[in-house]
Amino acid sequence: MDALNKKTIEDIDVKGKRVIARCDFNVPLKDGVITNDKRIVAALPTIKYLMENGAKVILCSHLGRPKGEYKPEFSLAPVAAKLSEYLGVEVKLAEDENVVGENAKAMAAELKDGEVMLLENVRYRKEETKNEESFSKELASLGDIFVNDAFGTAHRAHCSTTGIASYLPAVCGYLIQKEIKFMGGALSDPKRPLVAILGGAKVSDKIGVISNLIEKCDTIIIGGGMAYTFMKYLGHNIGDSLLEADWVEKAGEMMKSAEEKGVKFLIPVDNKVGKEYDENTEAMIVNSDEIPDGWMGLDIGPKTQEVFADAIKGAGTVIWNGPMGVSEWDNFAAGTICVANAVAESGAVSIIGGGDSVAAVTKLGFADKMSHISTGGGASLEFLEGKDLPGICALNDKD
Ligand code: 3PG
Repeated sequence: MDALNKKTIEDIDVKGKRVIARCDFNVPLKDGVITNDKRIVAALPTIKYLMENGAKVILCSHLGRPKGEYKPEFSLAPVAAKLSEYLGVEVKLAEDENVVGENAKAMAAELKDGEVMLLENVRYRKEETKNEESFSKELASLGDIFVNDAFGTAHRAHCSTTGIASYLPAVCGYLIQKEIKFMGGALSDPKRPLVAILGGAKVSDKIGVISNLIEKCDTIIIGGGMAYTFMKYLGHNIGDSLLEADWVEKAGEMMKSAEEKGVKFLIPVDNKVGKEYDENTEAMIVNSDEIPDGWMGLDIGPKTQEVFADAIKGAGTVIWNGPMGVSEWDNFAAGTICVANAVAESGAVSIIGGGDSVAAVTKLGFADKMSHISTGGGASLEFLEGKDLPGICALNDKD
């Protein structure tokens, strides 16, 4: 699949047309209040383009996992309110428990050029996640054109992301284009050296990414909980640190493969270890081959910070997925802060993908210093694994 060869909203005449735009409004909520609206903000350029070009805009999205049933706590009502605020016009929610119900049909029929409405959570319908034809057809019956701009859900082959594309002209919006331009560009034609920084808890979650990136990167930096499985392969005692015993061999294969390909593969040389998995636990710094029993690695150590920062310094492009330690705890955030600083100062094209690293970079105040922060968690991981994303594959190719 050539994602850059997909038709976009600018390749199709939207004036006076009913446009169903699939966005990823799967935002975090606390007591009905949106706690992070980045995904809504990221969808605005496409929505504004459609409004300004005279489309009748019918937005849709999922929110959480209501498992095919109407559950009021998963309603998109807070999203409709937030959209109204950002767009300066009322975005009405079609309050149908079955999503494409009497309200949705009537509202879609009455929409005027440039107006916007929102359907209820598409996952109220059990057919959605099974990509069943019946619901894809119902959704399609509301519109003339399908626009997919839900990059965060592009790895799901659902009715509202792929099924509907069989029944309408299907193009992508600006957010999908932007994500593909940055992440696709970093993988296919990066400014070198290309450095990948991979962290997070589990090797098993990242093995696909590591094996794809070994083929493309000049340097791979491994931090976070998953680093201990690599240390185990090297025969180090890792104390009570996180270990995926079934993945030690695979971790070793990755290290050997990197060596054969001349890819620099860096794992921590020292660590900040704690007695317990607790923010205020007793802590000390130890070398990677000296983690005592009864202690667990919770962050990279100061020598590792220097080694990693040095490797990042000369980068042309950096792809970062996953924090270096338990970065949500101040006592174990130093490694992630140091790496974020090094990325920010490197002048490299910097791409942050994946939920945890995005949260860490944002919380630590480095978000503005990065070239691109992906709105995809699972979707950006699958993209970095080199997988085709069904929500993008389903769209029409340029002629
Ligand atoms: C996400 O938050 O990663 C996307 O919105 C997809 O959500 P899902 O994992 O529930 O499909």
